[in-house]
Amino acid sequence: MMNRLILMNRLTFLIAALIASVWMQPALAQTPSPAQNSTLTASNSSKSAYTVIANPGENASTEMRLNWHTDLGSGDSFITYTKKTDKNWKQARTTKADQELCTVFDSIYSKKPNGEDFYENVRFIRNTISLQGLQAGTEYMYRLSSDKLSSDGNSEIRYFKTAPGSGKWNMGIISDMHVYAPLPKRQQAAMEMIGQLEKKNKKDFDFMLHVGDISAWGGSYSFWPTLYADPTFSKYVWAGVNGNHDNMTRQNAQSNDFFRYVNNNPDNGYAGEIGVVYHFTYGNALFVMLNNESMKSEEELAQAQDWTREVIKNNPAKYIIVVSHYQWFMGGDGRSSQYSRWKSLFDECGVDLAISGNNHIYVRTNALYADQETNGTTGTVYIQTPSSDNERGRSFGELVHNAELIRFRWTEGSNTVGALIMKANKKRLSLTLYDRRGTRIDRVSVKAKR
Ligand SMILES: [Fe+2]
Repeated sequence: MMNRLILMNRLTFLIAALIASVWMQPALAQTPSPAQNSTLTASNSSKSAYTVIANPGENASTEMRLNWHTDLGSGDSFITYTKKTDKNWKQARTTKADQELCTVFDSIYSKKPNGEDFYENVRFIRNTISLQGLQAGTEYMYRLSSDKLSSDGNSEIRYFKTAPGSGKWNMGIISDMHVYAPLPKRQQAAMEMIGQLEKKNKKDFDFMLHVGDISAWGGSYSFWPTLYADPTFSKYVWAGVNGNHDNMTRQNAQSNDFFRYVNNNPDNGYAGEIGVVYHFTYGNALFVMLNNESMKSEEELAQAQDWTREVIKNNPAKYIIVVSHYQWFMGGDGRSSQYSRWKSLFDECGVDLAISGNNHIYVRTNALYADQETNGTTGTVYIQTPSSDNERGRSFGELVHNAELIRFRWTEGSNTVGALIMKANKKRLSLTLYDRRGTRIDRVSVKAKR
């Protein structure tokens, strides 16, 4: 009887301990990052920075802004950087990052790579830094470290390049890759497309631009470190706009925090959109980066347009480029979309180039002014990127609307993969669309007008 009682007590204790450990699991699970989950090996001491990105500063010739995430308890974070030519890091400087706890991705319903449903328990430290006083047109290398993590001196070396003070530059442009854990081939298709663009360019780009929807659900944190782990993110400066997919969760909750916290964009936007809506000057071009999720009502549109007018007035540049996710035209039949809402402002402010995405069908005009095609000495070229994930593309029908304005459309149907190269000099911007095989599909020139 006594023995039985002891056994019962022991069993009760074991069950209680088991329940406690299962119950504790979500709390424990929140520390290892998705990035580390994929890189964890026998030694679990190799904790490091993840979701690392370099964004251009307001003046991309002299300022770079970095964002990266570290696990809770990693201590202070640092960046050590120097010019790429300083091979032994003799001139390297080390600077401490600003830190904040990020909980915006915590407990969001999502999917694992194996398709399993789960809630992502993620809380981490967001590290940001703005490096100023940099030299124009210069390649830099950098390493990230944390004071509570074992530093073996072998942390990954990443790179960024500042914009030239003037003169030529080039970039790759891509959008709508909808990175999604259960379908890794989406990211692969988009990254291979960038590789194809690099081949066409015969060298690395000066920087990369994305036009939104790089994630299928921006609220699903695990998709971000997986994407940012690609070498195109450790060697390029990236500028981008918030897409509707980047702004949503699987359950269609909306927030511009997802985009904000995986970037460190210039904080020169307007109220509610700081770090999401922004502008920067790259060499001879002003980029105005909008958030279409906050321009749905007429009031919101007016707010965005007032800000855009001011930015263009206060930042004179040879080229004015506006980037926004939602399409200018519906590629399917040519119907006007955001074009109707923005054309007057673009005419008024002398916008040279308007870049959008979202529609998954490439659509391009020549320069337009007052709803008419011009000879290119005035007006705005409208271009919208195709998708790049080999999966969510769509086909088009007859061009029923705006046939006198739309000069070219392109898609490969549902399996579309395409992207562009833009080259700038003092006479023009040249944009070329390529398919995944590197075939040149379309080209347009934007003449310098100033
Ligand atoms: Fe999209």
